[in-house]
Amino acid sequence: MSSTNDFTKLTIAKEVRGRLQEEFPSLMALAATPPAEVMKRCEVSKSSAERAVNQARKIIGMNQPTTAASLLKKELDRPRITTSSQSLDDILGGGITVGSITEFSGAFATGKTQISFQLCLNVQRSVEDGGLAGKALFLDTENTFAPARVAEMAYSYTDDPSEYLQNILVSRAYNTDHQIQLIDKADKILEKNNIRLIIIDSMASHFRAEFPGKENLPRRQQTLMAHAETLQRLAESYNLAIITTNQILSNPDNLFSGANNLEPALGFAWGHRPTHRILLRKSRGTARIARIFDSPELAEREAVYHITPQGIRDGPPLDY
Ligand SMILES: Nc1ncnc2c1ncn2[C@@H]1O[C@H](COP(=O)(O)OP(=O)(O)O)[C@@H](O)[C@H]1O
Ligand SMILES: [Mg+2]
Repeated sequence: MSSTNDFTKLTIAKEVRGRLQEEFPSLMALAATPPAEVMKRCEVSKSSAERAVNQARKIIGMNQPTTAASLLKKELDRPRITTSSQSLDDILGGGITVGSITEFSGAFATGKTQISFQLCLNVQRSVEDGGLAGKALFLDTENTFAPARVAEMAYSYTDDPSEYLQNILVSRAYNTDHQIQLIDKADKILEKNNIRLIIIDSMASHFRAEFPGKENLPRRQQTLMAHAETLQRLAESYNLAIITTNQILSNPDNLFSGANNLEPALGFAWGHRPTHRILLRKSRGTARIARIFDSPELAEREAVYHITPQGIRDGPPLDY
């Protein structure tokens, strides 16, 4: 056991330690959780929760600032998952990164779900092949997960897709409450299965359906923010990538949203959560265009990719 994952380093009552260890697979997961949440989840006192979290933060080294130089090194060393399109990878700075949320927004049939399927396969590939040698957790909110389609894509890598399918865990989320619960309780599943990618396809559907209209907006924002915070914590604690998909809306007032005034749904509060936002739109035939939208580090570039029978590719299918 690594020293940063040794719960015996916490100088707290044995009983409390046992409960923490049962709930949190790592000290990092504990350190990144607000004490109030620890208190509730582990049924320990407020002071025990605060003590444990503070000690965990110290052991992990979370209370000391880092230099920009070492952050840059970490950033450059950060593993990435290929999308199977070189041009899409390029505008993403090399692929999908771990430790943050990447959002794909677009109208119907722009490729949000197809890209998600492709990534569920690619995350399983070796690092040399653009993967992370890990598994995927797919949260399906629209009942669009299509195992046969995923298998069709997997044939590019193997004659027997069953192992690839075995490594994709699918949870159907029936409403926002269920979606939130599945993520809140994900710690153990993530750790046990070496999950390196979480997909939420889509982030928008339940939230938009359950909180309609202006009068529900504050409640929706609040629920979304808490959900986003948990997702961000999971991304950092388990060094995994998170992909969310989103619908788009036309906003005539938005001068910054570019072509057709289209912008991702779910509004302002959610908008700040994904580190990378990509807008997808249709082009001719199998071609689609991805544009980086509102990123702190990536230029607003565009890339063309194609949805082919084999999956996401740079060019159209050969027989097209
Ligand atoms: N087996 C397949 N072979 C080729 N193209 C496919 C296949 N399955 C789906 N597509 C294409 O993918 C597109 C749908 O993409 P999808 O990711 O499901 O859309 P959304 O953005 O709504 O999630 C459609 O244009 C469809 O033609
Ligand atoms: Mg879809």
